[in-house]
Amino acid sequence: MKFYSRKLIKPENLNANNTLFGGALLRWIDEEAGIYTMTKLRSQKVVTKYISEINFISSAKQGDVIEIGMQFVSIGRTSITMRCLVRNLFTQKTIISIDKIVFVRVDEDEKAKPHGLTIEDIKRMSK
Ligand SMILES: CC(C)(COP(=O)(O)OP(=O)(O)OC[C@H]1O[C@@H](n2cnc3c(N)ncnc32)[C@H](O)[C@@H]1OP(=O)(O)O)[C@@H](O)C(=O)NCCC(=O)NCCS
Repeated sequence: MKFYSRKLIKPENLNANNTLFGGALLRWIDEEAGIYTMTKLRSQKVVTKYISEINFISSAKQGDVIEIGMQFVSIGRTSITMRCLVRNLFTQKTIISIDKIVFVRVDEDEKAKPHGLTIEDIKRMSK
């Protein structure tokens, strides 16, 4: 698992309970997974296809710093699957874990398009 992004929790990221708003976190995760996919599939034409069960394990509060991690799971013909973990940077306490996020390579008509990569290609990439 590589932790790519860090976020400082600010007032605009809070819910009515004054803890991190789940929607804000999901937006960051979707964006991070999208960038991860673009680097792995070497294309910016990718879309979110599927996000498995989302387990909010603990919360975060204003002033906390969180880090978002992604781990490669598998690739198919047009898709890539990754795992996600978000944790508190300082306490290392897990905030959310998602077993399966699937992104799909699409063509100009937004139809699924083979990415033409093998698992060896993906593993060779450092980013
Ligand atoms: C992505 C999209 C083009 C795929 O179209 P599709 O007709 O489902 O295409 P396919 O059936 O060929 O599936 C494409 C890939 O997704 C995978 N897939 C489809 N449904 C899936 C599901 N429920 N869970 C996991 N993977 C799934 C398929 O296994 C396939 O992967 P592979 O080629 O690597 O084996 C289409 O579903 C779409 O446009 N979705 C909206 C995407 C979007 O707008 N995302 C932003 C969120 S608002």
